[in-house]
Amino acid sequence: MSLLSQEQINEIRNSVDIANVISNYIALTPRGKNFFGVCPFHDDNNPSLSVSTDKKIYKCFSCGATGTVFKFIMDYENVSFLESVKKVADIAGINVDVGKTNKVSIYPELHKIYDLSLKFYMNNINTAGGKAAKEYLKQRDINEEIIKEFQIGLALDNNEALTKILIKKFEQKDLLKTGLLGKTDYGFYDLFQSRIMFPLYDLNGQVVGYSGRIYNKEDNSKYINTRETEIFKKGELLYNYHKAKDPARRENVVIVVEGFMDVIRMHTIDIKNVVATMGTATTINQANLIKKMAKEVIICFDGDKAGAKATMSLAEELIKIGVTPKVVRLEDGLDPDEYIKKHGKEHFHMKLDNPINILDFKLSYLKEDRDITNTTEMAKYVNDSIKEIEKTNDEILQDLYIKKLAEETNVTEELIRKKITKKEIIPITKEVKEKTDKYEVAQRNLINYMLKSPEVIKMYDTKVTYIPNKEYRLLAREISSFYKNNGFINIADLIDYVECDKDLLDTIAKIEKAALKDDYTVREIEDYIMVIKSFNIKNETIKLTKEMKEELDLVKKAQIAQKIIDLKKESSNV
Ligand code: CTP
Ligand code: MN
Repeated sequence: MSLLSQEQINEIRNSVDIANVISNYIALTPRGKNFFGVCPFHDDNNPSLSVSTDKKIYKCFSCGATGTVFKFIMDYENVSFLESVKKVADIAGINVDVGKTNKVSIYPELHKIYDLSLKFYMNNINTAGGKAAKEYLKQRDINEEIIKEFQIGLALDNNEALTKILIKKFEQKDLLKTGLLGKTDYGFYDLFQSRIMFPLYDLNGQVVGYSGRIYNKEDNSKYINTRETEIFKKGELLYNYHKAKDPARRENVVIVVEGFMDVIRMHTIDIKNVVATMGTATTINQANLIKKMAKEVIICFDGDKAGAKATMSLAEELIKIGVTPKVVRLEDGLDPDEYIKKHGKEHFHMKLDNPINILDFKLSYLKEDRDITNTTEMAKYVNDSIKEIEKTNDEILQDLYIKKLAEETNVTEELIRKKITKKEIIPITKEVKEKTDKYEVAQRNLINYMLKSPEVIKMYDTKVTYIPNKEYRLLAREISSFYKNNGFINIADLIDYVECDKDLLDTIAKIEKAALKDDYTVREIEDYIMVIKSFNIKNETIKLTKEMKEELDLVKKAQIAQKIIDLKKESSNV
């Protein structure tokens, strides 16, 4: 599987405390022997994720996610198994060589084309034809260092500069999929011309598209973006995500802005935990990415009306998934880029250090452009505000805002309170108890204890010939073979051992979810085995009875009848 042996992987895993590592990603609180936190793998705000230091695994009682420290990092950071092993080794201070961990792309040709286009554009900006572009960037305070760091390039004033390069190296069908070239009856041509090229990256930091800015002539569109392609889906990414995720986690705050120029400017004043939505309506997908990045979210959109409206809608998306963002509003309609240039970095830091809470923002937003000296407008304002106040789950905050609104509008507190309907807070994740019959229970419990005890594995090996349910059967075999090979059993090791098999992991998750007590008696295990045996006999009897009915040959019919009788005897023995 890799350059690392199973022993090395085990050693790496055992040298860290899983709760310690996971607490770098999400907040954990101790309860009993375990730690609990809000599961990052489904939409939730209840602490349904449990992390066990002893067992070295985590599991979510709500969505069933389970695994070792490696699996957590794989899923949280969207990295491969080996990359996550490397990360854990780094934490543990163990030096390992895991070889090349680059993600294998399902669109290798598209990525190759993008890599080449990036080199080409980046080179152009340093040629004679790039002088005006450099001048433009300079005048925007973007120096060489930033140009390099953000890989800013240039599409020349020429309609086939990139075409000429790509057409020699790649197949036409692939080139058409890139969104970089267009095609007419006369052949290919460059879609981007005379534009400063800002690469757009996917979550892993690979270039998958561009935003090209006009700089030297009049044009209707300030920016032209790559169209959606197989590798570029605007609604699934955030500008600068790959660079911002570590700083955001470290500081436990992520700042969301609209434009990538804002991100770039903020980098120049050492703010690294920032991503941009790039001017589109934020999708639920992006909201979930933001939620994963840090506990605290600050929305710092453009100071104009459009920015306020976009803040409202991103806030709604975030609140839906249990994140209450804070808001920074910039005066005079400025965006962060302009604000920093105009007022300087200290002032901008001051703004960031004093974000307003979401309800304050919403109420002032609702009041904007409303003439509340006009009674009808005032009534609308009060009603809209009540709706917003209603939405908060925080009773104290609610109370404060009711008073504030009453004072502001002269509507009595009493009336406002009357209008605020008391909502029942309904837990979103009511666990649906799976219907389980006694055969299911016996199989599940047997395997649960096989995962914990060699004694039970030996009982399985000697007494159970067949487990009826396929997923349990496969897992039982895996456990038994793991034990034969290693001479011990341990759920964390087993999970890593079967890491590539999602079905087995799902079955383990299902069993773990049942959360049985840790200890057992031999008698209990024997009972499970008996139930499984009698289930097999029952099934076999049904099968034979059917065969017997269909059999025309009398001798054979009698033979089958005898088998059934033998089975019946056997079943009275178990
Ligand atoms: N955008 C776009 N097409 C446009 C305008 C904007 O795709 N015609 C996207 C860009 O990704 C941009 C973001 O929306 O980063 C925010 O737009 P805007 O605030 O207009 O961009 P600025 O960051 O202010 O860009 P500049 O300072 O270069 O004018
Ligand atoms: Mn701007």
